[in-house]
Amino acid sequence: MNQPLAIVTGAGSGIGAAIAIELGRRGFHVVATDLDAAAAQVTARAIASAEAHPLDVTDAAACDALVARLVDAHARLDVWVSNAGISKMQRFVDVAPADLARTFAVNTYGAFYGGQSAARAMIALGAGGCIINTASMAAKKGGVPFLADYVASKFAVLGLTQAMAYELAPHGIRVNSVCPGFVATPMQSRELVWEAALRGTASEVVKQMWIDDTPLGRLQTPDDVAKVVAFLASPDAEFLTGESISVNGGAFMD
Ligand SMILES: NC(=O)c1ccc[n+]([C@@H]2O[C@H](COP(=O)([O-])OP(=O)(O)OC[C@H]3O[C@@H](n4cnc5c(N)ncnc54)[C@H](O)[C@@H]3O)[C@@H](O)[C@H]2O)c1
Repeated sequence: MNQPLAIVTGAGSGIGAAIAIELGRRGFHVVATDLDAAAAQVTARAIASAEAHPLDVTDAAACDALVARLVDAHARLDVWVSNAGISKMQRFVDVAPADLARTFAVNTYGAFYGGQSAARAMIALGAGGCIINTASMAAKKGGVPFLADYVASKFAVLGLTQAMAYELAPHGIRVNSVCPGFVATPMQSRELVWEAALRGTASEVVKQMWIDDTPLGRLQTPDDVAKVVAFLASPDAEFLTGESISVNGGAFMD
């Protein structure tokens, strides 16, 4: 197969689906993976050259097994996107150990395991590659309400991105993150309801607060993020590694 191969986790919804579709538009053969196998299928059907596979990113052996199968079938691996993530809004003092563990299992360990599987395969193939992690504005700014476990899990992703970039550079593998702000996805719809309840106000009020916090004056779309991921995966970003690029309409500037 001549097409470059891109594997995206959490591709059944929101930002991951948009990333998969954008990479497909730019000529990749896309592997859409998700915990929700049916959702991954829906995404794959929207792409000219694609396939879908179930994948739970908290399962390191499953990440390795899927990458091995795909590399056997396609004899290449060009791009891996660790995008799967979860959030649950609650006060810091109320976060139970099981919630903390689950948030880290998906957001941090998931990116770690998937990154390891992809890097092992890319090193063995000897042709370099590109790994992109979906972090968050909350990976750079802890001053956000009701997301302490999420913030901690995403700050860790930025450190991981730098450590991976450093170690994998000699193999020609670039590693970067994107840090989205307020993106209109099913995750955001859930957060609107939680934050409104925790603040004792209406979802519409919270939504307007988020827009008011965004200098470019609107909620983000998943496509806003997907286009930056596609840039990072392109030769235009060939000398870019270890970076965590904010894509947030100016909602947080660093
Ligand atoms: N929506 C936002 O405002 C926002 C902002 C910053 C960062 N992010 C990050 O972007 C990424 C995508 O978020 P989204 O808003 O599209 O969320 P979403 O809930 O719409 O989609 C997340 C997808 O991940 C999948 N998933 C969950 N657990 C999984 C697991 N263990 N293994 C594999 N897949 C799993 C879900 O099934 C779902 O399809 C996440 O990492 C999230 O933290 C989102």
